Amino acid sequence: TVSRVYVTRQIPPEGLEILRKSGQVQFELWNSDDPVPREELLKKVKGVDGLLCVLTEKIDAELLDAAGPNLKVLSTMSVGFDHLSQPELKKSELNFVCVCFLRGIRVGYTPEVLTDAVAELTVALLLTTSRRLIEATHEAKTGGWGTWRTLWLCGYELANSTVGILGLGRIGIAIAERLKPFKVKKFIYTDVAPRPELAEIIQAEYVSMDELAKQSDFLAVCCALTPETQGICNHNLFSKMKNTAIFINTSRGGVVNQEDLYEALSTGQIAGAGLDVTTPEPLPTNHPLFTLKNCVILPHIASASYTTRNAMSALAANNLLAGLRGEPMPKELKL
Ligand code: GLV
Ligand code: GLV
Repeated sequence: TVSRVYVTRQIPPEGLEILRKSGQVQFELWNSDDPVPREELLKKVKGVDGLLCVLTEKIDAELLDAAGPNLKVLSTMSVGFDHLSQPELKKSELNFVCVCFLRGIRVGYTPEVLTDAVAELTVALLLTTSRRLIEATHEAKTGGWGTWRTLWLCGYELANSTVGILGLGRIGIAIAERLKPFKVKKFIYTDVAPRPELAEIIQAEYVSMDELAKQSDFLAVCCALTPETQGICNHNLFSKMKNTAIFINTSRGGVVNQEDLYEALSTGQIAGAGLDVTTPEPLPTNHPLFTLKNCVILPHIASASYTTRNAMSALAANNLLAGLRGEPMPKELKL
């Protein structure tokens, strides 16, 4: 039987090809590079069996109610899943005849295929921030380059440094593997619990959040955004960091308290920050963080390589099709 599917965005061609060739789905697509308006989305999902979305769509009770009981599979073209309401997706509730029913929607996501691209971008952002590349090109272009000066545009180097990883997963490991040849002295990490089998790959030492803040010359945030990690990079963390430390976030903006980060950057509590993610996205152009020379802000592009975005698209399509067939998905999120 052919399933009805809604795709909330113009996704890269590989995934669309897989859906077309499958003969398994009849799909409608929001054929735009911009997000589908919420009202439109709520109409379009009515009665669908499957939904393929991206991270700008909030998948909550309102949307799931609008879709109705046919919806059994959700596939997000992202590794992050903070835009999905997990309790709502698996929820059981009492209906008017007091019969317990389950939404029981299965969820696919796209880990691993983007790890290399995200790690590469994280290293690029780290070096851009620590070696002040944005300031430097600006100075060169706008006449600030009067002459060669001894301490002008000096930054911080990776050689002999301690790199801290907040949330050690595949991405954190991939970042550390790439930083190692820069002669990093020591890797440390914190997480909800030690992850010895992963940490061993990069000989990283498990430390408390306090020690992570105190010891890190570079602190990379690589954790998922969950209720537990919401705002954990706050005054308490920044105030314990070195004045020479560089803070890098390529996970989710919600992990950071941005007012506290602004304070830490503007008072020189820390040396610099590189952010690929913010709250909200896009960050308004008049946001105070944009006024700071020591803050580099990118528009959420960590996974943005042609290879990776196509691989994410293909994996999202394959997750959806497997889910609709009632088979295990290539990458299924355990709710
Ligand atoms: C990007 O941020 C993703 O979650 O894939
Ligand atoms: C994401 O792929 C992670 O687990 O770090």
